[in-house]
Amino acid sequence: MAPTREQAWETLTRYTKSESLLRHALAVEASTAAYARKLGADEELWRVAALLHDFDYEIHPTLDKHPQDGAPILRDEGYPEEVIEAVLSHAEHLGMPRDTPLKRTLFACDELSGFVHACGLVRPTGLDGLEPKSVKKKLKQPSFAAGVHRDEVYAGAEGLGIELDDHIRNVIEALQPIAPELGLRTAETAGTS
Ligand SMILES: [Fe+2]
Ligand SMILES: [Fe+2]
Repeated sequence: MAPTREQAWETLTRYTKSESLLRHALAVEASTAAYARKLGADEELWRVAALLHDFDYEIHPTLDKHPQDGAPILRDEGYPEEVIEAVLSHAEHLGMPRDTPLKRTLFACDELSGFVHACGLVRPTGLDGLEPKSVKKKLKQPSFAAGVHRDEVYAGAEGLGIELDDHIRNVIEALQPIAPELGLRTAETAGTS
């Protein structure tokens, strides 16, 4: 049976309570789903992989456990190998080949979704009016969202075979519809909070 988005959300929220981690999962899900639609891929399956990619981070917060010790849990819960492999392949330290569009997309969306989200949080209008140019400028400031690995952002776009500007624009557009869920202001709500 193909897993559903609902099932992945249920698994995720059973292991993850932190609001920021849940928001990260939602952001990566939205970006990955946007690429699934663009590429005509299985959007539901890609959503599942994206939601689950950090599902075990709260219980396995170190790289000697995350995400590899999460994989048996996902297997027990009946997720297909395609999802489990994609989840494992987002981790640079495991050195797995990113040999499918899902793996390349998930990797490309992981760090950049977090970074674009961070850019939106410091702007009064959130993601509205945010241009790739200013995201790239912030990427060059090591102190801004210091936890985001810049090399992975650049490698992600390269893996997708698209320009960084286009990738950034795609991610911004993917996150805009879920801005409220991500705790972001919008042009409409600017000044009201
Ligand atoms: Fe991770
Ligand atoms: Fe992540």
